Amino acid sequence: MLKASVRALSMPPFRAMQLLAQARELEQQGRDIVHFELGEPDFRTPHHVIDAAFRAAEDGFTAYTPAEGLLELREALSERYNNEYGVSVSPDRFIITMGSSPALWMTFASVLEPGDRVIMTDPHYACYPNDVRFVGGEPVKFPVKAEDGFMLDAKAAWTAAGENAKAILINSPSNPTGAVMEARHLQAVADLPVPFVISDEIYHGITYGTKAHSILEYREDAFVLSGFSKLYAMTGWRLGWIICPPDLVEPMKRVHQNLFLCASSFVQKAAVAALKGPQEPIKQMVRTYDQRRVYLLGALRDMGFGIPAEPRGAFYILADARHLDESSENLSKRLLLEAGIAATPGIDFGEAAEGFLRFCYATSIERIAEGMKRLKVWLDNQ
Ligand SMILES: Cc1ncc(COP(=O)(O)O)c(C=O)c1O
Repeated sequence: MLKASVRALSMPPFRAMQLLAQARELEQQGRDIVHFELGEPDFRTPHHVIDAAFRAAEDGFTAYTPAEGLLELREALSERYNNEYGVSVSPDRFIITMGSSPALWMTFASVLEPGDRVIMTDPHYACYPNDVRFVGGEPVKFPVKAEDGFMLDAKAAWTAAGENAKAILINSPSNPTGAVMEARHLQAVADLPVPFVISDEIYHGITYGTKAHSILEYREDAFVLSGFSKLYAMTGWRLGWIICPPDLVEPMKRVHQNLFLCASSFVQKAAVAALKGPQEPIKQMVRTYDQRRVYLLGALRDMGFGIPAEPRGAFYILADARHLDESSENLSKRLLLEAGIAATPGIDFGEAAEGFLRFCYATSIERIAEGMKRLKVWLDNQ
């Protein structure tokens, strides 16, 4: 029998996907399920972006692009960083990737030697430790607490990790907590004597009553990873970018060229339209997320879920449900089977989130209301 590598075999699956599969199975049996488990915008990609992709493909723009991506797109991104954050980033520092997922993996693969340690928060995006391990690195998790708004004390994390980590990975606004790091927290990360700072900024632009800062405002040689999936509702288009520290541009370009050749050509043209075209559809999406956030936050708190700090970004609420069940996986299964609600078990995001549930509000307010109604009935019967 053929056997996959140890590296491949030890890669754990996405629990949220298993939950989704289970929910879909129930739906096929005729059950109605309210979905809070998927971390994906429920909006369509704006029309002008779709039009630009069509036009580019029809004009024959269907060949490979340079490995680092179209200059036109890198220039538009560079301008965006200047306008949004007041930082000057040369278009030469960008590599356009097929989403921020390959960007994450490529960055770890390009900076880590076997055994190198990477500090990350716990809770964290589910893939982070898996990606680090896949390239031989060692994730070092630092617990952050709900009562502190899931804020990272960078100095304490550095000390706890033994002051010899190779990299620190941050994610603000955060999946799964919705926490947005304040300027002073980012400054503290930037000031660490750690060789590599990697900032996953995929949820930038999706904030409520606050603004996310880029790590580049505080440290020039940081990595920024981001993409079009979330803000522009373009998950299936697969487009993102890396901003490399100046010294790493050339080696990373080579890695990208060898592994991926380049990102999709006409999708890059669509991305230029996303950046340069009307921003009102994007702002409208964010306003709608905000209405849902306020509603869901109120409903969950009223029902006794612990959410001490208001999540101000992304589209997630990580709610403390330890009073209902110590095992988030168990609770998530019970809610699916008994109440017809799918919410992701906290354990997917690290041990510190055990006993929590992640609710994603990228679904209509009517469905959120239906889910909360079912949750109330279920709780009343406990
Ligand atoms: C924190 C975080 N980073 C990265 C990604 C990957 O996004 P993509 O590969 O679509 O750009 C996700 C997707 O859910 C995410 O939540």
